[in-house]
Amino acid sequence: MLWAFSSPRNGTVHHQLAPKIAALDYKKSEQSWKEKPVVLTEANYSKKTAPPAQLREMENTEVVKPETLDELIKILHEIFESDHINVDEVKAVMEAYESNPQEWKQYAKFDKYRYTRNLVDEGNGKFNLIVLCWGEGHGSSIHDHTDSHCFMKMLQGELKETQFEWPDSKSQGDMVQKSQRILQENKVAYINDSIGLHRVENASHTEGAISLHLYSPPFQTCQTFDQRTGHRTTVKMTFWSKFGERTPFETTVSQENN
Ligand SMILES: [Fe+2]
Repeated sequence: MLWAFSSPRNGTVHHQLAPKIAALDYKKSEQSWKEKPVVLTEANYSKKTAPPAQLREMENTEVVKPETLDELIKILHEIFESDHINVDEVKAVMEAYESNPQEWKQYAKFDKYRYTRNLVDEGNGKFNLIVLCWGEGHGSSIHDHTDSHCFMKMLQGELKETQFEWPDSKSQGDMVQKSQRILQENKVAYINDSIGLHRVENASHTEGAISLHLYSPPFQTCQTFDQRTGHRTTVKMTFWSKFGERTPFETTVSQENN
């Protein structure tokens, strides 16, 4: 079964916050308000009940809870048909999907020495959806996102994200750290180049971690940064596997993941 709810016009959407937001809205408008989420069944879920992304944003933002990974991908395709992306909407939809290993295990391929990038879906050319598998202690360099949106959802385990300021071209020495946080299962983080740079790490020495990343538009190169100097290097990214199949060895000499 699918379900959805409406939240206020400002567009912030989070299924766990919905009742609180709904209550506030009721007080303000003094109109009758259905406190319970709108329930959509398989039978009535259609374009009619789930309008296209543009309309969803014009009206109250609506989030459909994806019951499976395939359903999440289908919804993402619909959202990214539009050229204007509502970041909060994408975050909320990705967060509403409850990670089920049965649905993504075919993409979860670990390497002993470094984390892997495994392509799940090419999003009709609008985005890449990638499963990243982080062995114990594996981490990325500090990197940018080539002017794209980057959404990162935890499917299993935890990752540590450390954000940095862009280095000043004149400055030297250590890069400036902005923030650090631990991302827990099912949570979604978002970053783009205007927010800053980041490093992602699996700090655990006993557990692997698996994350689902959405990049839009897709990109093949990014910049990595030396934390001590801010010096940058352009690197090409490659896939360890595509659609569940190991990528031929010649093309897997990946220099960087992100
Ligand atoms: Fe990243």
